[in-house]
Amino acid sequence: MTDIAVLGYGTVGSGVVEVIDKNNASIDMKAGGGIRIKYVLDLRDFPGDRVESILVHDFDTILNDPDVRIVVEVMGGVEPAYSFVKKSLLAGKSVCTSNKELVAKHGPELISIARSKNINFLFEASVGGAIPVIRPINSSLTADPILQIKGILNGTTNYILTQMADEGWEFDKALETAQKLGYAERNPEADIEGYDACRKIAILSSLAFGKNVDYENIYTEGISKITALDIVYAKKLGCAVKLLASSVCEDGRYYAMVAPFLVGSSHPLYGVCGVYNAIFVNGESIGDVMFYGSGAGKLPTACAVVADVVDAAKHLDKHIYTFWSDEELKLTGIENATRRFFVRVSGQSGSRDKIDSVFGEVSYITVDEDPDGFGFVTGPVTEKWFNERLKEIEGVKGRIRFE
Ligand code: NDP
Ligand code: HSE
Repeated sequence: MTDIAVLGYGTVGSGVVEVIDKNNASIDMKAGGGIRIKYVLDLRDFPGDRVESILVHDFDTILNDPDVRIVVEVMGGVEPAYSFVKKSLLAGKSVCTSNKELVAKHGPELISIARSKNINFLFEASVGGAIPVIRPINSSLTADPILQIKGILNGTTNYILTQMADEGWEFDKALETAQKLGYAERNPEADIEGYDACRKIAILSSLAFGKNVDYENIYTEGISKITALDIVYAKKLGCAVKLLASSVCEDGRYYAMVAPFLVGSSHPLYGVCGVYNAIFVNGESIGDVMFYGSGAGKLPTACAVVADVVDAAKHLDKHIYTFWSDEELKLTGIENATRRFFVRVSGQSGSRDKIDSVFGEVSYITVDEDPDGFGFVTGPVTEKWFNERLKEIEGVKGRIRFE
């Protein structure tokens, strides 16, 4: 019997308890022995709940119990999660976490402690919810240099953009529903402003490229400036707006960014809707490999956490080697990346002369919903060139990159 403790009885934590209770027999079989939840730690009390009798408020109860071999950290945030996780590892307890903020900030150190103690620090649920992507990068895709990772890495924003496009919902209603469904972060700014996707691409890139990608150096834009009108224009252009996270290795240089993009209907990410996430990994010889599934939500995420618990239980005194160096990977700025841009402008057609003279060949687009404005699409230009010229145009209401 392997005793575990769950830190945090919120969306994911309650899902972990539910999944272990519900699938007990098959989980025990696959783990090669029983898994028992000995403690649940939370700030609140849960009178009448299944965990009432095992609920503790003092982390030291868990830390000082030698029977607890695996700690599941699903509280979120950096502190006290970092202190609890580090103490657990130093005490010889393996840790499984869904906390990308913690993993992106302290991943190399925590892996290194786990290695030194011959135990494990596992974090499959920290990227892509239910989607297995960390484990494949660490094991199945190790034969070929990874050149590019690109995908939709945030369920909340993909849900919001989908509801706005398909159901005509207002942004606020879509966000509120995403929160009710348990998709959003405690502070949803992390989802909306792209910080969550940024941490996730940093984790994947660090594992794929072999050096630590500091998420604070990744160019990040969220979806807070995307309006219902942008989505109307996107549809007219035959596109969907998607928050994409990407990292690329090109001629020995590395680029990473998170931003909303216009994705055409023939693109495989166009049909990735709602809370679903999808991640492309591209290798020199393997070409594209795509991972797809629920990117957030109580039970899908809990299943990824519990699968890590099973793995940790199978490797109680054996470290599963994960390469994540603490040496920093230098990122090159995105200013020389070349792409097309969609620009939305308010005002009359008179300003088109100016646009033509500044941008050269562009194509114009109008929609009934924007009688006082119009949009235009540039040819392929660099970010730097585009940003410099855009300053010369009056009445710019927004701009979105084309994928
Ligand atoms: P919740 O806010 O729903 O749950 C966190 C729980 O931890 C709450 O019950 C909270 O208590 C408790 N908690 C917070 N601080 C402490 C503390 N110091 N001691 C004891 N308990 C504490 O978050 P989620 O379950 O949604 O997310 C947990 C983690 O999983 C986050 O890192 C998140 O990013 C990640 N994640 C979430 C996914 C999702 O779909 N929700 C998907 C993938 C990853 P209280 O409410 O009283 O503060
Ligand atoms: N808030 C995150 C999302 C949870 O919406 O993707 C999953 O990491």
